[in-house]
Amino acid sequence: MERREENRKSDEELLFMAYHHSQDLVRVFLDRTLTSRLGIRMLAMHHLALRDEKRVQDHIGIINTAMRPQSLIVKWCEFVQRMCQHKYTKKPTFKIVGNVNAVFPYIPIPLDYILPELLKNAARATIENNPGSCDEDIPPILITLANNNLDFIIRISDLGGGIPHELQDKVMMYNFSTAHDEDPDADKPLFQTMMDSVNPGMTRGPMHGFGFGLPTSRAYAEYLGGSLSVVSMQGHGTDVYLRLGHINGKLATFRI
Ligand SMILES: Nc1ncnc2c1ncn2[C@@H]1O[C@H](COP(=O)(O)OP(=O)(O)O)[C@@H](O)[C@H]1O
Ligand SMILES: [Mg+2]
Repeated sequence: MERREENRKSDEELLFMAYHHSQDLVRVFLDRTLTSRLGIRMLAMHHLALRDEKRVQDHIGIINTAMRPQSLIVKWCEFVQRMCQHKYTKKPTFKIVGNVNAVFPYIPIPLDYILPELLKNAARATIENNPGSCDEDIPPILITLANNNLDFIIRISDLGGGIPHELQDKVMMYNFSTAHDEDPDADKPLFQTMMDSVNPGMTRGPMHGFGFGLPTSRAYAEYLGGSLSVVSMQGHGTDVYLRLGHINGKLATFRI
């Protein structure tokens, strides 16, 4: 009798399990929805680009046959600096090291979503962790590029204090953000929030507040046959590793 009592789960335990179960369902649903949306968009843009009479140099459809990851990173660093200047009236510097001269064929579309999201997170953490410092005193964000015959890896290292232990498991959940309260769009419906946050363009998205940056970037990276991992050193900073396979490499990458 006592044993049966012991085996019965308490209401809190059941609630906890139900919460995690529904979180998993939401994650699987959104991962699939967002990646299939990315796939359809890539197919449509590829088709349109192939039919376009104006040929863009070094491009076959949406494939940039001579993509320089460094140029793409510089473009998005400058974008994030402009956002920071607007929001915080100061901006961090970015330093790019490693295989900076790497050139290979790739599709920039998913990177045009992932890179600004990761750079915005690093910039926000760095600025908010160094209150009162002027531009020169803000520790630079280090971006390391690695390229090999199978894949390429982009590591973004910031000195933004890291992700607190208690939030470590939550940052990859959709709609989790530590910035909700200050965001003017915080009470928008969830679906609207999701669509706004994944719609691309240079004028897109606020600095933070939707909680879609990390989970969507990871879903995109995994869809492309790669991975996104976040390594936090609490009290110091965060390293984010984006790993993607070459589209002309030996590894199987992705199918739309
Ligand atoms: N580099 C980082 N350093 C510290 N915290 C981070 C970093 N990247 C993400 N986070 C934390 O993870 C949360 C979720 O990030 P994200 O999914 O990009 O959503 P958002 O930026 O909209 O809050 C952020 O609110 C922040 O608390
Ligand atoms: Mg973000």
